Amino acid sequence: MKNAQAFLEALDRKAKMLAPAARATFEANRELCSWLLDPLARWAEAAYGPEVFDAAARGYAEYCVGVAKAKAIYEREGRYTPERMPEIMSGVYHDEGYMIPYMWAAILIYPFWPSMVSHIAMFRDEFVRRLPKNARVLELACGHGVLSLLAAEDRPDLEIEGSDISPPAIAVANRLLAVSGHADRVRFEVSDALKVDTNGDGRYHGVISAMLAEHLPNPTPLFSTMAQRVTSDGLVFFSTALESPQRDHVFEYNQESRPLQMAEAAGLRASRMASDASAIPPGSKFLPRATAMILRAR
Ligand SMILES: C[S@@+](CC[C@H](N)C(=O)[O-])C[C@H]1O[C@@H](n2cnc3c(N)ncnc32)[C@H](O)[C@@H]1O
Repeated sequence: MKNAQAFLEALDRKAKMLAPAARATFEANRELCSWLLDPLARWAEAAYGPEVFDAAARGYAEYCVGVAKAKAIYEREGRYTPERMPEIMSGVYHDEGYMIPYMWAAILIYPFWPSMVSHIAMFRDEFVRRLPKNARVLELACGHGVLSLLAAEDRPDLEIEGSDISPPAIAVANRLLAVSGHADRVRFEVSDALKVDTNGDGRYHGVISAMLAEHLPNPTPLFSTMAQRVTSDGLVFFSTALESPQRDHVFEYNQESRPLQMAEAAGLRASRMASDASAIPPGSKFLPRATAMILRAR
């Protein structure tokens, strides 16, 4: 049965230049990264066959090249220069040819990028394992669905609903779900996180919004949705990118205090925060990083 090594060996074959750094991050955080990659390797192979590892490695490589190009433009322009929303909808979220490799990259950056590893620890130890028994969980912008599936794998009592605006992403999530053994407790569907019915009485003990806010022209309504959806004693796992340009990053966060202020203005408070940077060339104006928080109702 395949495990984390299958992803690393595929990087050696298909993304040689990126493999040493990814392996170093994995080795320095082996237990945590294996918690994510071992079950993912099983599901990926069962859902897509053994070729999936090379495809994932190619997706990761393409994504890293895109990020490096976007960073160079950012340094020159001094601000994000994303595509317009209609182009992002058609050229990213609705384009299967772009979205499927992107989804492999989106999950592989967690164990392979130093700026993302602490998110796995916070997600597992301070969110998933602290939810009450039989908790109901909502994941907004679940993409590939892997965070929800890992939560289900770790906690056999959870019931989880995930949604994403992208049909190809939800197709990936449903394919992995079908072989995960969790199809009776996890559901994925296509929907816009900002169109979740906030007047509905559906409240959740856990709400996940991972790496979504930077994709929204205005993230403020996302924080209202999270505040309205979480129970008074519930937990929110929130994360976002700062000074990290990409073709579909439309909202530029420069300070950790900004998403925190947005959360506080919506009636949430942070009980834990982590923010980590990636390595960048000396002399860069910007410092790409990712921040994660555990939020609770006030
Ligand atoms: C970087 S991926 C993050 C996926 C996953 N949450 C993770 O942490 O790896 C961003 C996701 O946000 C989704 N997305 C963008 N705008 C959205 C919206 N308005 N509603 C729901 N999903 C959205 C995209 O389709 C994509 O799957």
